[in-house]
Amino acid sequence: MDINIRPERSADHAFIRELIEAAFKNEAMSDHREHLLVDRLRKSAAYVSDLALVAEHDGEIVGHILLTKLYIIDGEQRHASLALAPVSVLPRFQGLGIGSSLIRAAHDRARALGYSSIVLLGHEDYYPRFGYRPAHKYGITFPFDAPLVNCMAMELKLGALENVRGKVEYPAAFFE
Ligand SMILES: CC(C)(COP(=O)(O)OP(=O)(O)OC[C@H]1O[C@@H](n2cnc3c(N)ncnc32)[C@H](O)[C@@H]1OP(=O)(O)O)[C@@H](O)C(=O)NCCC(=O)NCCS
Repeated sequence: MDINIRPERSADHAFIRELIEAAFKNEAMSDHREHLLVDRLRKSAAYVSDLALVAEHDGEIVGHILLTKLYIIDGEQRHASLALAPVSVLPRFQGLGIGSSLIRAAHDRARALGYSSIVLLGHEDYYPRFGYRPAHKYGITFPFDAPLVNCMAMELKLGALENVRGKVEYPAAFFE
């Protein structure tokens, strides 16, 4: 499938909001507020414009992904990392590899910008294929009451999490 991935623009925001709502509409685990989370994150210091991406097919936006800045806190130490949340594909385009392309493109761009790891809360059958592992295996804990298998972390650079442990501090926008 012919897909073009590029950073989002302000003119895309309204369409992206609808896309995210549509993508999560039938997701049992969703609070159906992911589009509002994206709106809040865009206004926050956690937003990195180069890591908010859309996938286009035939000039139409069919997918979106957002990585935002956060920290893994270990006592006095603050390790910079990223949150992947959310990733969304229009329902009629799901299962065609667009989500995978967005995730890989976001990884490449984050690595090029110098980031070394990403954390996320997600499905245990989907994310391991992109290198995510249960975060507790790195000694990383999450501030959510979620099953350990769904709290995941991945190294953008080999060994990047070897000496990183602690609790993930999500941007405040995640709790509003
Ligand atoms: C999850 C999502 C982004 C994946 O994008 P996609 O383009 O449909 O996925 P791809 O075509 O790249 O990959 C397809 C694979 O993902 C799996 N998959 C798709 N959605 C999944 C989900 N919600 N949970 C677990 N696995 C999922 C498919 O079973 C398929 O697996 P297979 O390759 O083993 O057959 C997309 O389906 C979506 O927008 N879903 C609704 C929103 C959502 O749940 N976002 C993720 C929050 S953690």
